[in-house]
Amino acid sequence: MPDSLLTLRRTGGRQLARIVYDEATIAARVAEMGEEIAGVYPDGGEPLLVLGLLKGSFIFLSDLVRHIPRPLHVDFIVASSYGSGTTSSGRVSLLYDPSTSLENKHIILVEDIVDSGTTLSRLVPMLEERGPKSLEICTLLHKHIAAHLVREPKWVGFDAPNEFLIGYGLDHSEDFRNLPFIGSL
Ligand code: IMP
Ligand code: MG
Repeated sequence: MPDSLLTLRRTGGRQLARIVYDEATIAARVAEMGEEIAGVYPDGGEPLLVLGLLKGSFIFLSDLVRHIPRPLHVDFIVASSYGSGTTSSGRVSLLYDPSTSLENKHIILVEDIVDSGTTLSRLVPMLEERGPKSLEICTLLHKHIAAHLVREPKWVGFDAPNEFLIGYGLDHSEDFRNLPFIGSL
């Protein structure tokens, strides 16, 4: 099946403005990021917890952890700052709290995209209170439009254009998460 038809089938017939990062580009960058992360936490001696922000990071996280060649644990947190549209509501609500203790562990908070920075500004202080040994942010995409970021991500996959992006975990009203590439609506 031609790529364009495959895409239309996956999007329910809706046209995307363009493909911003294709599958091969994403795969290559995610593999690099895994190696970069492994270089920072080299041996298996100290516990490492990869904490994914659901739902947007689910595909990125599952690809990423397979490229980090050292022991680690995985948990998730659910925070929602967006309603069903394409603009931020400015509020962050916690819908699921990780059951895993963060104390004395190296934590990597995995985000799909940093946009206004509201989510991180709310979450980072909250997670810091739980006494992690270190807390770093790893995001696949960074729009670089946040007026104030409580902490800059240590790892950024791509400096993203200021467009509404979907696919590879990112949604618009819950649609498009299953696209294997990242596109613009
Ligand atoms: P922030 O709090 O404004 O930085 O936004 C963080 C969250 O909003 C991300 O984790 C995404 O779930 C969502 N978001 C922000 N920008 C986009 C986008 O371009 N496409 C899809 N989701 C987005
Ligand atoms: Mg979302």
